[in-house]
Amino acid sequence: MPFYHSLGKIPPKRHTQFRKPDGELYSEQLFGTIGFDGMYSNSYHVHRPTQVKEIKKQYSVAPKIAKANNIQSYRFRGFQVSPENDYLESRKAVLTNSDCTIILAAPKKSQEDYFYKNTDADELIFIHRGTGTLRTHLGNIDFKYGDYLLVPRGIIYKMQFNDEDNRLFIVESRRPIYTPKRYRNWFGQLLEHSPFCERDLRKPETIETHDEKGDFLIKVKKQDEIIEMVYATHPFDVVGYDGYNYPYAFSIHDFEPITGRIHQPPPVHQTFETDAFVVCSFVPRKYDYHPLSIPAPYNHSNIDSDEVLYYVDGDFMSRNDIDAGHISLHPAGIPHGPHPGATERSIGKTDTDELAVMVDTFKPLQVTEEAMKIADESYYQSWLEDNNH
Ligand SMILES: [Fe+2]
Repeated sequence: MPFYHSLGKIPPKRHTQFRKPDGELYSEQLFGTIGFDGMYSNSYHVHRPTQVKEIKKQYSVAPKIAKANNIQSYRFRGFQVSPENDYLESRKAVLTNSDCTIILAAPKKSQEDYFYKNTDADELIFIHRGTGTLRTHLGNIDFKYGDYLLVPRGIIYKMQFNDEDNRLFIVESRRPIYTPKRYRNWFGQLLEHSPFCERDLRKPETIETHDEKGDFLIKVKKQDEIIEMVYATHPFDVVGYDGYNYPYAFSIHDFEPITGRIHQPPPVHQTFETDAFVVCSFVPRKYDYHPLSIPAPYNHSNIDSDEVLYYVDGDFMSRNDIDAGHISLHPAGIPHGPHPGATERSIGKTDTDELAVMVDTFKPLQVTEEAMKIADESYYQSWLEDNNH
């Protein structure tokens, strides 16, 4: 997060004595990224955060690849992913490459008996259905429909859901996820032409401080394996922290669309960036207002980008037979565009209520076995004039 945040109690000067009411020192932790060059926070713990008691099971959760080299367009019916009780087991990787993994999940239960930490990747968790609280060692954030939760790598967290009807679209990124650089000035502040600003980014405002000893299980993800580590003290024992590295939320409903007289290209929808992919938000907006405008997109070849669209809500004008929860994959190397009839159908329309999240990756995506279970194998033929389904 490119702005400073302070929560709870911290000493006036970093790396100096900061004592508990009983006179003992709090344990300071520098929590940084990219060596000592990236964003960081300094947190103050009741107990030393280093007390590993036992290392238990270790097992692979690497995505199982069905198609490593893919040029076929697919539609995946995301809501056909079965709900499962456990948060981690509910996460089904559908598309992956060496930079990122796209996951669908329908968890029914909150994490009760373990904490989770992803050391491989930042996690961008889009809430399609469900409400609850993201509880982390650097504070808590309530979430609801339409929220992106950005959890930087290394944050220890628990997802707490209010009920069992939850649908998540998650992007794991091995590269740090930032707001787009072109929307920030040289101080990091979001500029006037940015479609959102700092007021729209929700920081943790409450923090849990547990002074507890015992057995605390953290499932740590590293190099596509889960390592079950037991710590001797509660991971949420921070009394305060400050810095730039912490989780935050942004609602897609707070994205202010950029429109024009003629069709605007996908970068106007950009919400997040990495050096390996971008994330865009397609939100309800007025259509193009040139008298001869065509609101539907033109056919396009992003010859070196795979394009993933996750359909959230509304009417998807350029596609036939697409419902909420579907993913379309339009791979690099071939053009794609509106379905037959969609271009004509769009003329004269003044606005759209579509809501969708797009992930464009610069390296090709591999299709997993989980994705093939929910795949529409004939989608790639859906642009044929006489095979419109
Ligand atoms: Fe496209």
